[in-house]
Amino acid sequence: METDVDVAVVGGGIIGLGIAWEAIRRGHTVTVIDPDPAAGATHAAAGMIAPASELHYREEHLLRLTLDSAARYPEFLASLTWTGIDPGFRRTGTIVLGFDGADRQALADLQAVQARNSLVVEQVSLREARRSEPMIGPAATAAFRAPEDHQVDPRKLAAALLAAVTSRGTLVRAAATGVERDGSHVTGVRLADGSVLRAGSTTIANGLAAAGLAGLPCRLPLRPVYGDILRLRVPEALQPLLTHTVRGLVRGHPVYMVPRTDGTVVLGATMREDGSNAVSAGGVYQLLRDAQQLIPAVSELELVEVLCRARPGTPDNAPLLGQVEGCDRLLIATGFFRHGVLLTPTAAAVCVDLLEGKPGPPGLERYTPNRFEEG
Ligand code: GLY
Repeated sequence: METDVDVAVVGGGIIGLGIAWEAIRRGHTVTVIDPDPAAGATHAAAGMIAPASELHYREEHLLRLTLDSAARYPEFLASLTWTGIDPGFRRTGTIVLGFDGADRQALADLQAVQARNSLVVEQVSLREARRSEPMIGPAATAAFRAPEDHQVDPRKLAAALLAAVTSRGTLVRAAATGVERDGSHVTGVRLADGSVLRAGSTTIANGLAAAGLAGLPCRLPLRPVYGDILRLRVPEALQPLLTHTVRGLVRGHPVYMVPRTDGTVVLGATMREDGSNAVSAGGVYQLLRDAQQLIPAVSELELVEVLCRARPGTPDNAPLLGQVEGCDRLLIATGFFRHGVLLTPTAAAVCVDLLEGKPGPPGLERYTPNRFEEG
């Protein structure tokens, strides 16, 4: 089959760009298709590389992927150094706070699961927590420390990936409308202007929009889980406000604050399934109210950005990652829900291994994209 490119990637968010860069550095020719790269969930993401404190109820199975991805991060970022864009990787760890009895119980239960999985999370006294983060408020009643959690700045990482992909591959700023097929073989991508890009293999990584592509061999049951997220600037007199990511359960409400090297703090994020992609006043109120319990000085910061984006969720909140049985030259990489940034290096390695005909990692069948199809 004559092709225009070895690998077509539909979607220029952090996952699509990560896959494209991995394929390029392994010697493939690559085209990414996206009308507005890195403008979706990537633009809002906090960037916690935090397998321990981002572990959620019934998501233990994901640890194999999240721990693998966190371990891959340093090398993945080192491969982008030549772009000259610092992706803001910091190894500063997370402090987790609880407030009422139910918060303490939930965090202790989570710590038992973390310990069972050999994750380093230790309960510390509040005095100890305040030695690391003196601005912690008086209402906190329990503290835990996850020293192996890290962070990256997703906007800067996306900028580095975009620079790498446009310099060594091709970016087509257009919408894809579907995949082209010859029986069970996917032969390329159809663009909004009707043209077709012929590719040796095609990866679908355009988040929620993947569900609307024509010609896919299975339905992709994606749903938007909206997050309101704020950015605040710390005035000179209060810097550094934080050195760790500080998060908490505040009377049952989760909230996190991620400090950036540029003197801002990312405050997030709500989880709304109300169908509205507008910033929610209630969501913003809740975030500021709860963040003020973590760090009372939040009320003295300058509010510089308020935005909302949708995370691509699936019925079991696990990714759609891998091949679709009975369909060649097609990979799906979407549905990363809360873990898109964390899982980027692993998603990239898995997809490029598969398109090169190598086996996926053990347990990948759990994320088969057509697992929700009847029969
Ligand atoms: N990973 C954090 C969030 O989705 O809010």
